[in-house]
Amino acid sequence: MPGGIILARLRGAYVVLQRPALRVPFRIDLASSDARGWTHVDRVTVFSPATTANMGPGFDCIGMAFEMWNELTVERGDFHVTIEGEGEGAAELPEDSRNLVVTGVEAAFRAVEKELPPLRYTCKNEVPHGRGLGSSSAAIAAGLIAGSALADAKLSIEQIVSLAADLEGHPDNVAPAIYGGCTIGVHDGGQWIINSVPVPDDLSAVVFIPDLLTNTHESRARLPERIPRSDAVYNIGRAALLVSAMHNSRFDLLKQATQDRLHQPLRGQAFPALNRLIEAALSGGAHGAFLSGAGPTVMALTTGKEVTVSYEMAEAARLSQVPGKPAILKPAMRGTYVAETA
Ligand code: HSE
Repeated sequence: MPGGIILARLRGAYVVLQRPALRVPFRIDLASSDARGWTHVDRVTVFSPATTANMGPGFDCIGMAFEMWNELTVERGDFHVTIEGEGEGAAELPEDSRNLVVTGVEAAFRAVEKELPPLRYTCKNEVPHGRGLGSSSAAIAAGLIAGSALADAKLSIEQIVSLAADLEGHPDNVAPAIYGGCTIGVHDGGQWIINSVPVPDDLSAVVFIPDLLTNTHESRARLPERIPRSDAVYNIGRAALLVSAMHNSRFDLLKQATQDRLHQPLRGQAFPALNRLIEAALSGGAHGAFLSGAGPTVMALTTGKEVTVSYEMAEAARLSQVPGKPAILKPAMRGTYVAETA
């Protein structure tokens, strides 16, 4: 099913969710670097994708978007934040101005020095909150792009990515959330530099999403400020190998290309099932596997054998007494987009 999200179920039927593009009346892609202007907008609906970050060795730099989407509608009206439906992690999200969709909208208005009007926010989320699949970046990206439309802000996609990366502090989730695909982002002299990495057509990902929340801020605070040169060399080589393997579809290199010494070993101490899940994914036929972002989701890269990999990861989680669910995801080759304005 090209372009769909297939939620793998171990026992029972597969559930296939159509990608949002198939059910919206029209869309406006933010795919060019041209500054975009909007005629007066009272209501805007935006979709933003799930993302993984780090992909093993690319700590804070490399990330990729997946076909799992949050929908955000922002309209003029008394301030209110509604999280509709059961949504992933809906109960854990603040229904007030602390919600990152509000932060994103506010940042867009601030960027063009316009006063923020009273707005109502409605979120329908598929991206699970606090699990390492870029829920914060999806919220920030959606908010910034909705805010740009409502503020009639002529912000280029580069400006939007920079605002998002400034809010998030690193670009590995926000860049793919906005551009789609796989990206590398670096910070230099106050600016964010982003480039794309080719994604092989046949690449998929299998994730195991534990029913556990990771506090990214606390998780990052535990990482060391300094690392041995040997660890730096280990990661530099693997990050470069990952990009080159994506470039020429050398799936046989992905096992080594997704290894890491900067964050996974320490985060694995707090989540001992990590290595068991990675081993299970590899033994099921995955090319490489890693902690997705700050976790706890574990992601495996595959070209086939997705059901077996999903089964092996879920079984390893069960044996490790880690509740959660597996899912099979296709990379999303476009990022946050405006589906409708009125
Ligand atoms: N690069 C980030 C981290 C991603 O690993 O902490 C999560 O925000």
